[in-house]
Amino acid sequence: MINEKLPKIWYGGDYNPEQWDAETWAEDNRMFKLAGIDVATVNVFSWALIQPDEETYDFAALDATMDRLYKDGVYACLATSTGAHPAWMAKRYPDVLRVDKQGRKRKFGGRHNSCPNSPTFRKYAARLAAKLAERYKDHPGLLIWHVSNEYGGYCYCDNCAAAFRVWLKRRYGSLDAVNRAWNTRFWGHTFYDFDEIVPPNELSEEWGNRTNFQGISLDYRRFQSDSLLECYKIEYDELKKVTPDVPVTTNLMGFYPELDYFAWAKHMDVVSWDNYPSIDTPASFTAMTHDLMRGLKSGQPFMLMEQTPSQQNWQPYNALKRPGVMRLWSYQAVARGADTVMFFQLRRSIGACEKYHGAVIEHVGHEHTRVFRECAELGRELGVLGDSILDARVESKAAIVYDWENRWAVDLSSGPSVALNYVDEVHKYYDALFRMNVQTDMIGVEESLEKYDLVIAPVMYMLKPGFAAKVEAFVKRGGTFVTTFFSGIVNESDLVTCGGYPGELRKVLGIWAEEIDALLPGQTNKIVMNGTVGALSGQYDGSILCDLIHLEGAEAIATYGEDFYKGMPAVTVNKYGEGEAWYVATSPDKAFMQGFLKNLCDKAGIRPILDTPEGLEAAVRTKDGKRILFLLNHNKTATGADMGESVWTDALTGETRRGAVEVPAHGVVILMEGDASHVQ
Ligand code: GLA
Ligand code: ZN
Repeated sequence: MINEKLPKIWYGGDYNPEQWDAETWAEDNRMFKLAGIDVATVNVFSWALIQPDEETYDFAALDATMDRLYKDGVYACLATSTGAHPAWMAKRYPDVLRVDKQGRKRKFGGRHNSCPNSPTFRKYAARLAAKLAERYKDHPGLLIWHVSNEYGGYCYCDNCAAAFRVWLKRRYGSLDAVNRAWNTRFWGHTFYDFDEIVPPNELSEEWGNRTNFQGISLDYRRFQSDSLLECYKIEYDELKKVTPDVPVTTNLMGFYPELDYFAWAKHMDVVSWDNYPSIDTPASFTAMTHDLMRGLKSGQPFMLMEQTPSQQNWQPYNALKRPGVMRLWSYQAVARGADTVMFFQLRRSIGACEKYHGAVIEHVGHEHTRVFRECAELGRELGVLGDSILDARVESKAAIVYDWENRWAVDLSSGPSVALNYVDEVHKYYDALFRMNVQTDMIGVEESLEKYDLVIAPVMYMLKPGFAAKVEAFVKRGGTFVTTFFSGIVNESDLVTCGGYPGELRKVLGIWAEEIDALLPGQTNKIVMNGTVGALSGQYDGSILCDLIHLEGAEAIATYGEDFYKGMPAVTVNKYGEGEAWYVATSPDKAFMQGFLKNLCDKAGIRPILDTPEGLEAAVRTKDGKRILFLLNHNKTATGADMGESVWTDALTGETRRGAVEVPAHGVVILMEGDASHVQ
């Protein structure tokens, strides 16, 4: 449990009473009660209010907020406010201001704007965290610490440059090793002094998301991710010194590209994240992101820290969440491991860029709105659910490997194709499993593979030390491993492993790739099946890249149908020990993916949770050996599933359910395994 003080799915969100007057506060409390809200994320952007100058700290307003909320049963997810520095600090200590990728020194403005290597920022952020911890350590309303907000963005200032050199010395030991790792003899880049190294931005090596030197650019991403993490850790340590038992988190952003969240999660007591899909985001993409957030801490439940009750303001087209969709997406998060449902925000602000962002309490100010009614109804339901779902785990036999450093390397690769998008390729595999309701974990490269039967590592371009050996051991003991084109090509420094692609994975895959063809937009090659293989037969399309591979013990189950490499293997399988290793040499169409994943699951004995019609998502969490089944209807029409003879109890109504279960349009049904009607 995240905190035993509140043994239910926490319900609430960001709350900014500092933007309102006392009359409104009373109304807020009244309406929070009506909506079943029991947690408010406060003090997210209040640094300037709390600290009007260098020496003065004023907690009076925050004291009052904490007391007022607690009195009415609302706990605090207490933020440290360091997501935006005060204007006086920027004026007096310009080192807190970032330098952007174009090399321009920023002025005061925006948020998430502090240089992570600014001595001033670090000093005052640590001091603020310490003061907050001291002040509220005994406050009964304190539920969890929320450090800063949505860390992100890079800085290219001179302090960062100096810190980068220190970071490099620590990572490599010597300049020689740096020169080797970056292959600096290319374009005459040999460095003779650490001081010659400058950050890779648009004044030096990078333009857009491209670079002349992958090694330098990769290390700068690692370094900036580490620098921001260091800022988080400084605050974490201050908080833990005073309140060792209060959990600490910071809100992440799913597949956000700039930070290596697997590295971050090691320092978080609980992962939390902000979910902002748009109206046309595939349900499988959101599901995959929840699964990734759960995977950051090896399956530990996470927090849904933010979502909008109705609409965003920052997307190009901010569609309203249709009736029922807020509830549907809330339970989708819960189904995949969230133990909280929280919003940005509780009351809509009246000025600046988020005034058209949805909130539980809209500008009209009363509770008679569609959005409020939906929020209040969900609040009531979460009350009914109590602690019945808390801490339940998701048990998967299939896993997909995702790695941030690999993503950086693929994005920066400079060839073979700009059409290659790592996250999209990962999603293709995830989506095929999702459509079958096969529960899948999203795991990092450091995760043990032991508990899985099927492990898929799409576009594992960068192989980290030990990963190939882990895959070999996994397959040897009977596991099924799948990887794709553009895998095993480089080491951690983006230096190619010579001797034939896919480098260290050659042995387990039983193939080697000689060349990689890039197809033009809209161009395809054919994947021609060698006869019928389970659900696959005939031919399919492959696009983006086509590896030209040779068999070294593997068997081709499909070959290319066109071009000068017609007849060369397009999909192979290699028996290795007790298991199998598959190689998919191109990016297949949906029909192939569906049949392919079905075959793999059938063979590995991985059963779907339930067969459901298109758009009806089934997900399971398990608690005390009992399954909790979520049926989530993403369709605009009612649909249903057949539960067969098994007996379930509707978690919200207490009714016993078996056989056909109908789920309304955008509706949700939550079923607990077994007949609990006698318990009522
Ligand atoms: C992010 C931030 C919030 C708010 C929302 C708006 O998630 O953390 O402060 O800006 O976006 O969608
Ligand atoms: Zn900087």
